[in-house]
Amino acid sequence: MTTILVTGGAGFIGSNFVLEVLKNHPQYKIINLDLLTYAGNLHNLSSIEGHPQHIFVKGDIIDQKLVGQLFREHQINGVVHFAAESHVDRSIKDPAAFLRTNVMGTFSLLQEALLYWKETNQLDKNRFLHVSTDEVYGSLGPTGYFTESTAYAPNSPYSASKASSDHMVRSYHHTFGMQTLITNCSNNYGPFQFPEKLIPLILNNILHKKPLPVYGDGKNIRDWLYVVDHCQAILEVFQKGEPGGHYNIGGHNEWANIDIVHLLCDQMDSKLGRPLGSSRNLITYVKDRPGHDRRYAIDASYIKQELNWTPKESFETGISKTIDWYLENQKWLEQVTSGAYQDYYTALYQNR
Ligand code: NAD
Ligand code: TYD
Repeated sequence: MTTILVTGGAGFIGSNFVLEVLKNHPQYKIINLDLLTYAGNLHNLSSIEGHPQHIFVKGDIIDQKLVGQLFREHQINGVVHFAAESHVDRSIKDPAAFLRTNVMGTFSLLQEALLYWKETNQLDKNRFLHVSTDEVYGSLGPTGYFTESTAYAPNSPYSASKASSDHMVRSYHHTFGMQTLITNCSNNYGPFQFPEKLIPLILNNILHKKPLPVYGDGKNIRDWLYVVDHCQAILEVFQKGEPGGHYNIGGHNEWANIDIVHLLCDQMDSKLGRPLGSSRNLITYVKDRPGHDRRYAIDASYIKQELNWTPKESFETGISKTIDWYLENQKWLEQVTSGAYQDYYTALYQNR
């Protein structure tokens, strides 16, 4: 049995990863360290409550004492690191939180892994995977793709903090010989995504017949991947990737924001039995995000060639499953959007 420390395992991608591992990979025991910020939710893990191979610990990755204790108490022999502040708009309002968690938090995990694995002579065996983003590469023009050799050029405080943590991870491989891996993935969608990100925010607002905010001209492009495909790619890289390497993960699935919003409107009208076109009437163009990256697009040929990974879910089926999930889990939506989130959401538009 391999005991892995998963950080951020109560968030969107982390919880999907924990569920996928416990369902299909019984060789792993998971110690799940999550601070349960606004983005973390134990309801995401309710289907595995009491599972003998899952231990949840509420705590901060920046707390080196706690992290060191977890390594020793559970004899951790692998790390999959998701925990982060993850939303670009929040990083514009409060960059400090991003430096704290994404940079210093990642450092704390690296340092405690290094100490424990050196102490136990496991540094050349155990793996540390850092889950990162394609946003570290900056913005593309109308053509071209991000490859693993594209130079980092982060534009937002969020992507700059992720780029910094990628560099720290890389340095622990080159300087100390840690078996590190970095994955740089495109935009994810699927169950349990917090409704501050485009797809769940639009679905939630359609449900409540609220305005659908589209930033700028709506023509910014993102490359969308179903979250379970991302989780499976992370596992492949964790198990078989080349230490010290980094892997781009993407779905070859580029959409302009306005086209996604139209698609969601039409599918929701049909699933909710509303007249076709009624949700499109809610679309509201709002002031653009400062520094808004124009286009992201991943060239995922390296991970295909090296690890034989390609996405399984088509966008058509993935988006339909996602919409059904949000429709069936309106209680979850209500719960995560109550209280402090309302204040944040109102302030976001007031201060623009
Ligand atoms: P999320 O915001 O949904 O979840 C983040 C989780 O981290 C939450 O459960 C939160 O409670 C936890 N957390 C935050 N600060 C913490 C701290 N100091 N200590 C412990 N736990 C803490 O994020 P997500 O969308 O699931 O993203 C997960 C990772 O994947 C992030 O590192 C993100 O940069 C990366 N990523 C996300 C996407 C995407 O489209 N969402 C794409 C590529 C990469
Ligand atoms: P988002 O989901 O925040 O992800 P990221 O900024 O990491 O790509 O946004 C996806 C795209 O949708 C991005 O171009 C910004 C845009 N967007 C809107 O137009 N309206 C919104 O309300 C949100 C949240 C995002």
